[in-house]
Amino acid sequence: MAKYLVQKSGPLSGEVTISGAKNAVLPLMAAGLLAEEQTTIKDVPALRDVNVLMEVMMKLGAEIDMPEEGVLNIHTKEIQTTEADFDLFKKMRASILVMGPLLAREGKARMPLPGGCSIGARPIDLHLKGFRQLGATTEVKDTYVEAVAPEGGLVGGSVYLDFPSVGATENIMMAAVLAQGTTYIENAAEEPEIVDLANFLNKMGARIKGAGTDTIKIEGVEHLKGTVHRVIPDRIETGTFMLAAAITRGEILIKNVVTDHVKPIIAKLRECGVQVELVDEGMYVNGGNKALTATDIKTLPYPGFPTDIQSPFMAFLTTVEGESQVQETVFENRFMHVAELNRMGANIKTDGRSAVIPGGKQLVGSQVIATDLRAGAAMVLAGLVAEGTTEISEIYHIDRGYEKFVEKFRGLGATIIRIED
Ligand code: EPZ
Repeated sequence: MAKYLVQKSGPLSGEVTISGAKNAVLPLMAAGLLAEEQTTIKDVPALRDVNVLMEVMMKLGAEIDMPEEGVLNIHTKEIQTTEADFDLFKKMRASILVMGPLLAREGKARMPLPGGCSIGARPIDLHLKGFRQLGATTEVKDTYVEAVAPEGGLVGGSVYLDFPSVGATENIMMAAVLAQGTTYIENAAEEPEIVDLANFLNKMGARIKGAGTDTIKIEGVEHLKGTVHRVIPDRIETGTFMLAAAITRGEILIKNVVTDHVKPIIAKLRECGVQVELVDEGMYVNGGNKALTATDIKTLPYPGFPTDIQSPFMAFLTTVEGESQVQETVFENRFMHVAELNRMGANIKTDGRSAVIPGGKQLVGSQVIATDLRAGAAMVLAGLVAEGTTEISEIYHIDRGYEKFVEKFRGLGATIIRIED
C-alpha cells in the first residue's frame, strides 16, 4: 500500500491554486443523468471519487468523455439500467446521489445500501423519506435499497429534514426537478455545494428557489436541457492550505478561492492570531507574524464551522500555546485522528464528541494512518512540523479528495514523498 513520508519542513511559503470542489462536482455529475442533452462541467478535479462516479454513471447508460484536463462532457441519451453496479457503488458512498436522478427520469432506482465508513454510520433514511414525500415507495432489503415512483411519475410534496443533510438535500432536489407540481424541502442543508447544484439545474431549465437557505422550493418541469457550468472552488481544500500556513508559521497566497465559503475558518484562524488578508489574487495567510494562541471549535452544518476541517484544525491546535476544546456535532465518530496525533505526542483527551487539546506541543514524527480523507490531511500537516519523519499509511483516502496533493505541498516547500510498497 502507498505511504507518504513527511519531514519537518519549516515555514511553508509561496502560492497555491485551489481545485474544483469534490463535494460540488459529484452531485453536478449525477445531475447530468437528468437531461437527454449533453452537459459540460469545467474545472473538474482529477480525483479517484470522480473516476468512480464516472464508471457508475457509464454503467447506467451515460456517455462521458474528458476532451481536455478538467472538462467533463456527460451525455445521457437514455438510461440503460436503473440498477447501480454493486461493486463500483461500494467504492464510494456518494454514488447514492444517482438515486434521485434515476427516480426522476426512469421512475425507479435500485442501489446497494451504502455502507458506513470510519466517521459514522452514514444512514440514508432522510434521502428515502424525501423520495416517499414525492410519492415513491421505498424498500430496504439486507443488501440493497429500492425506490419506485408512482405510475404517472413523482409528485411534488413537502419534506422536513430532521437533520440538514447535504446528500439528502441534493438527492431530493434532483428527484423533484421533473416531478409533477411543487416540492418544498424544509430544514434543508445550506452548503455552497447545494447552491452550485441549484445553479446548474436552473441553467438546465429547472425552477429552484431558496438554495442556500433552509427552505428550498422546486417547481417541477417537463424536461431539462444541456448546459455548461464551472464547478466552485473547493472550500475544504482552501481551509487545508490555510492551516498549512498556520501550522508551519509560514505565509501562503491561496488563489481561486471564494472567501465567503470559508468565513468560519478565517474567523477562527484570526482568533488564534493568524494573519488572513483578502487580496485581489485571493487570500494571503501568514502564520508567522506573531505568537499564536488557542481557540475553541464546534462543528456545525453550514454556515457553521465545517466538520471536514475539524481534524486538520485540531492538528494545528496541538502546536499553539494554551488549551483548546473541540466539539464534533455532525458525525458520531470523527475523532479517529486523535489516537494518531497522540502517537506523535499531542496528548489530546476525548470524551464522546468533545476533545481537549493541551496545545504547546512539539510533535514527534511517527508511523500513523489516515483514518479518513480529512484526517489524512491532518496527519500531513502534523508531519510538516513534527521532529523527524512521519510515515502515513492508508493514503488512498487522500487520493480520493485532494487533487495533486503532493505536488501542491512540495510547491510550497514541504518535504513530502509518496512511496509505493
Ligand atoms: C457530505 O456528506 C460531504 N460529502 C461530507 O464530506 C461532509 O462531511 C458532509 O456532507 C457534511 O458536511 C459529499 O458531499 C460527497 P450529511 P453527506 O448527509 O451528504 C446524518 C469529505 O470528507 N444523516 O450532511 O453524507 C449523517 O449520519 C466528506 O469530503 C442521517 O442521519 O453528509 C451525519 O451524521 C466526509 N440520515 C449527518 O447527517 C441521512 O439520511 C451529516 O450527514 C443522511 C445523513
